[in-house]
Amino acid sequence: MAEIQLKSISKRFGDVEVIPDIDLTMPDGQVTVLLGPSGCGKSTLLRMIAGLETPSGGEVRIAGRLMNDVPPSDRGCALVFQNYALYPHKTVRQNLAFPLRMAKVSAAEQQRSVDEIAGTLELTPLLDRFPRQLSGGQRQRVAMGRAMIRRPEVFLYDEPLSNLDLELRVRLRLEIARMQRTLKATAVYVTHDQTEAMTLADQIVVLRKGRIEQVGSPLTLYRSPANLFVAGFIGTPRINLFKVQRCEPDARGTFLRLGDATQQVPLHVPLRLHGEATTIGFRAEQARIGEPAPGEVVLELRDCETLAVEQLGDRAFCYLRSALGELVLLAPTANPQLSGTLRLSIAPESLHFFSADERAVQSEAIRAVA
Ligand SMILES: Nc1ncnc2c1ncn2[C@@H]1O[C@H](COP(=O)(O)OP(=O)(O)OP(=O)(O)O)[C@@H](O)[C@H]1O
Ligand SMILES: [Mg+2]
Repeated sequence: MAEIQLKSISKRFGDVEVIPDIDLTMPDGQVTVLLGPSGCGKSTLLRMIAGLETPSGGEVRIAGRLMNDVPPSDRGCALVFQNYALYPHKTVRQNLAFPLRMAKVSAAEQQRSVDEIAGTLELTPLLDRFPRQLSGGQRQRVAMGRAMIRRPEVFLYDEPLSNLDLELRVRLRLEIARMQRTLKATAVYVTHDQTEAMTLADQIVVLRKGRIEQVGSPLTLYRSPANLFVAGFIGTPRINLFKVQRCEPDARGTFLRLGDATQQVPLHVPLRLHGEATTIGFRAEQARIGEPAPGEVVLELRDCETLAVEQLGDRAFCYLRSALGELVLLAPTANPQLSGTLRLSIAPESLHFFSADERAVQSEAIRAVA
């Protein structure tokens, strides 16, 4: 068991408070991703778990044990960073074996461990090469192997893939996911890339300015963002958001007037809202151009004009300007030039509502009375 617990953790650098007060549990054997924009405190949090940074207050516990005064080397954590430093004059085999040699493990045992790790990471044919004879991705795998070789209970990753090209990043991301499933070690993975977070995480922690905005599974964050910040951060393309001018409950649900003082679009939704919405949102992939299926609501957008088409091969996204503001839709055809008035059909449960304080407004379906 290597659950990681942060209790009332805070961090300040001089006068600057970077992390005010965080409570967080990172479950044993799961991948927790710390996700947030640059400067929000992800690396600082990770470094406090590793012991490379001292908390200003609070407790770090690994497997129940208080770690605040335990040196980094005794915490049982393996670190994988963006800038992997391999020993240039050592072969892959010697690089992998290095931590074991330092720990005075027998030569036979070193060889057995190196062969096993090399097998797992598909490095076996490369064992006698030097780092300069490897590609960036191969080097990163050696660095990961070196971190893994002492069988740590905890893996700490700080943007390990951000130096690599896209194709390699996608491949190594799957590699890490596979490795984590096999090892069943507890992992904390720092990234600002939401796709990386969505593919790797059991649990995502969204951070902003040193505070936790939401903790949940990738799908929970996608389907039920707790606030505007999370809604905007999770999902590509970015969620469409429109201002709500008026929001009134009526017998069949809620009547909304979207837009601003000059442009207004009525929308009736068969939902009871638990609060007043000032912003409404829906994702590109959840709106359809065309007539509604039973139960769907219709949003009529005037003065549409195509700004750009993002062609992805199997589908395309269309970026539009409309009377309500800019939005993005899943394109109905390969190369659409949408314009004029568009009628969007959306299932009511795909709509997201937010109040003036940016929190999600909960809603419940109102069934039509027969
Ligand atoms: N040693 C330090 N002294 C002063 N301020 C620091 C120090 N280390 C970090 N900070 C500040 O703390 C904040 C959080 O930094 P941190 O490195 O944790 O961010 P991050 O979320 O990892 O960002 P990025 O995605 O850019 O790596 C930043 O505003 C940074 O400037
Ligand atoms: Mg960082």
